[in-house]
Amino acid sequence: MALLNTFSKKLIAWHGVDGRQGLPWQNNRDPYAVWVSEIMLQQTQVATVLERYPRFMRRFPTVKKLAAADIDEVLAEWAGLGYYSRARNLHVCAKQIMEQFSGKFPSAPALLEQLKGIGRSTAGAIAAFAFHERAPILDANVKRILARLFCIDGALQDKAVNDQLWNLASSLLPAKPEEMPIYTQALMDFGATWCTSRKPVCLSGERKCPFAKECQANLSNQVLLLPQKTIKAKSPEFDCDMLLLRHGNHVLLQKRPSKAIWGGLWSLPESAWVAKLKATARDDMLNLKDLLRLSLPHEKASALLKLCKPVERGELIKHVFTHRRLWMQIWHVQASKACAFAGEDLKWVPLAKLGQYGLPQPIKLILQGLSLARGDDLKN
Ligand code: ADE
Repeated sequence: MALLNTFSKKLIAWHGVDGRQGLPWQNNRDPYAVWVSEIMLQQTQVATVLERYPRFMRRFPTVKKLAAADIDEVLAEWAGLGYYSRARNLHVCAKQIMEQFSGKFPSAPALLEQLKGIGRSTAGAIAAFAFHERAPILDANVKRILARLFCIDGALQDKAVNDQLWNLASSLLPAKPEEMPIYTQALMDFGATWCTSRKPVCLSGERKCPFAKECQANLSNQVLLLPQKTIKAKSPEFDCDMLLLRHGNHVLLQKRPSKAIWGGLWSLPESAWVAKLKATARDDMLNLKDLLRLSLPHEKASALLKLCKPVERGELIKHVFTHRRLWMQIWHVQASKACAFAGEDLKWVPLAKLGQYGLPQPIKLILQGLSLARGDDLKN
């Protein structure tokens, strides 16, 4: 088919006029820099990455420095970007590169794909950008472009459909390896800005899609129908209570288990999550004894009970994760006397030092409020 032979040329020409130019991770052949940018861009908008990527690279300029860092430092630097498994995987992967590849990234996509946190498409992107390998990418944007161009109407989760898309992605690559970076970037940009899910340019009529005359979905009026939509069940909702315990200018933080949501971050001690029964906001009151028992190990709760003032209801925060929604009821408690208990995972942290800890974004905002009230600056 003609499109198979002309696609890459046309796409590269499109990028010259309408693609994104001058992004800090472009025109960079350092695989470390490429890898960090690709991981950061996976679930984070370009505008945010533009701000955070240079900061991350200043803090961890080489794979060696990243591998040698403490995971808490990496998580603190990642704070606010969400999807923290990306940061934990980056750290594991940096160590793999140091130990298994003597600090040098492999160029073969098949080897890159075996590293922690690098899937087939990201492996393709790194290989293409850093090593000019003729390796395809196939993220959600590229799947959409191909499903429309070639009218592929099966479900994207189908193995056969997925294989078909990978084959197409390989067939469309430019012949010259040196064109791989610009081609790969063009594909990403075209999906993100022109062949978008809900407002593709072919339907808005303001700009002329270079593939309008060849795109099977456009020719058959099925652009918005492709790719086939997956029907998502509404994610379940949970309630939990969170203890915001202060003593003077310190707050009690608990390190979350590494496999949990917000794994490895420091947060407020919390109760177990329970499935939300009522759609309405909670109005129940919790007494000190119950709150401490629900959120802390038994012996710590008993020790604290005598030292604390009554509970005050705080903020109710809703946080939406990919697969669940969580309602967090914050309860404010003041410890009146010094209570020196702590442990590996439980720590009194001065408000002024919170910036050194990786905190979940909603918890960071609440604590930032406390710090501002005291005149501290939480930003590192
Ligand atoms: N998303 C993933 N990788 C990207 C890149 N290199 N540029 C823009 N968006 C991206």
